[in-house]
Amino acid sequence: MSEYSEITKELKAISEDVDSCITVLSNASALLYDRLEKLNWCGFYLNNGERLVLGPFQGKVACTAIEFGNGVCGTAAKRGETVLVDNVHEFEGHIPCDGASNSEIVIPLTVNGTLFGVLDIDSPEFSRFTEEDREGLEGIARALEVILGSSDFEDSRLFSDESLGKKTAAALGDPKLCVEIGNDYYYGESFDQNQEKAVLWYEKAAAMGDAEGECLLGYCLRNGIGCEKNEHRAFGLFALSAEKGFPMALYNMGYCLEHGIGVQENPVAAQGWYQKAKEAGYEE
Ligand code: SME
Repeated sequence: MSEYSEITKELKAISEDVDSCITVLSNASALLYDRLEKLNWCGFYLNNGERLVLGPFQGKVACTAIEFGNGVCGTAAKRGETVLVDNVHEFEGHIPCDGASNSEIVIPLTVNGTLFGVLDIDSPEFSRFTEEDREGLEGIARALEVILGSSDFEDSRLFSDESLGKKTAAALGDPKLCVEIGNDYYYGESFDQNQEKAVLWYEKAAAMGDAEGECLLGYCLRNGIGCEKNEHRAFGLFALSAEKGFPMALYNMGYCLEHGIGVQENPVAAQGWYQKAKEAGYEE
């Protein structure tokens, strides 16, 4: 039996009758760290719907949160595929936690159709992980997905919370969903009202260049809703959104120019924007 088949068998055995996924992950990181040679870090980053947060691990103190798309972990999470790095110093955006790490492998875990988190393993050796390791570790990841998906854990809210799938899809690149979640927080619809969180989701949509996200974020910044007032940035966002023809932004361009908000007052130019807004069907 190969090394990885043995580890998989043992993982299944020690996970039987366990009622917490944190327990499963803690022992999984200990098992791998113990059985595999030349490692200096082995553990999990878990998806909370907004980013990856540090989970159970073995090794030195590590960074506590990683944005989707950042570092090796965030890249694997965003792509939904294993990322194997022979030399971490050559990986653009690598997040150094333990200075001793020279190579790294990150495998995403998907449970019930949603990204659960990633398994991250570091080595002080360059090119420590081979294609055989990739295959073996992916096998372990698949076994973990089955364990995490089939049991009724006390802490299963970590991966079965209803909004997790929607939040993850949004944070991974769907700006319309980001706006939707922002609106849910703004008006207190599916979630408890929380204007700071609304702003956070509008920020994500705006960062993806979404006209509605830019305009709604501009609105919050203009009025200091859920964030500190920043009229200058608000005007810049309205301008970006207006460039794409978003009707509410056309109106806000007029409003800012009429009242000198974040821009030099210019009543004549303001009228032009109000006109455009009207033509686009926007009435205050
Ligand atoms: N190097 C990782 C960060 C986590 S630590 O290695 C534990 C990355 O670039 O995502």
